[in-house]
Amino acid sequence: MIKVQKNTSLKSVFGITLMTAALGLTACSTSVDPDVKARQDSMKSWGDAMGVMSDMAEAPETFDAEVFKEQASYLASDAATPWTHFENSEALGNATSAVWSNNDDFTAKAAHFQQVTAELDAAAQSATSIEEVLPALGAVGESCKSCHTDYKVKDNG
Ligand code: HEC
Repeated sequence: MIKVQKNTSLKSVFGITLMTAALGLTACSTSVDPDVKARQDSMKSWGDAMGVMSDMAEAPETFDAEVFKEQASYLASDAATPWTHFENSEALGNATSAVWSNNDDFTAKAAHFQQVTAELDAAAQSATSIEEVLPALGAVGESCKSCHTDYKVKDNG
């Protein structure tokens, strides 16, 4: 039972690792709009933080509680940053128009993200092994993915 849950979490964590790796290839987008740049910069830093934590999930013996805590806290502290930069529906960047046409759902997903990153941060404070934070890390990974599915253009990952 526990093992099954763990595997599920690991799977979503690995999904994020692959996703962020793919996104890294297209990081040099030509956008100049300051809002697009601000939200992309924020997301990019989330990708980095998730990369550090996912690496520990892939190699549990490398778990470093201090580093993990730092990354989880950073993610939680920045989790509200991008959303105010989605006001101008002309500034698409790599967002889909559904961000604006389905804004209630987008906003709900943004709120959910803030919740799961706060939960990961809380779990990280007392964690002594990667196992203790895997479910929370998996939930964050799922949150990234589920929003990108609808609200981020697909071709570039
Ligand atoms: C509520 C929606 C939502 C959530 C949650 C979300 N993203 Fe995003 N993300 C987007 C949208 C929309 C874009 C496209 C933004 C743009 O190009 O203007 C994006 C773009 C990105 C990019 C590309 C940035 C660039 O330079 O073009 C990365 C990397 C990224 N997200 C990582 C993450 C990670 C990692 C998480 C989870 C820790 C996450 N995102 C959570 C909606 C979300």
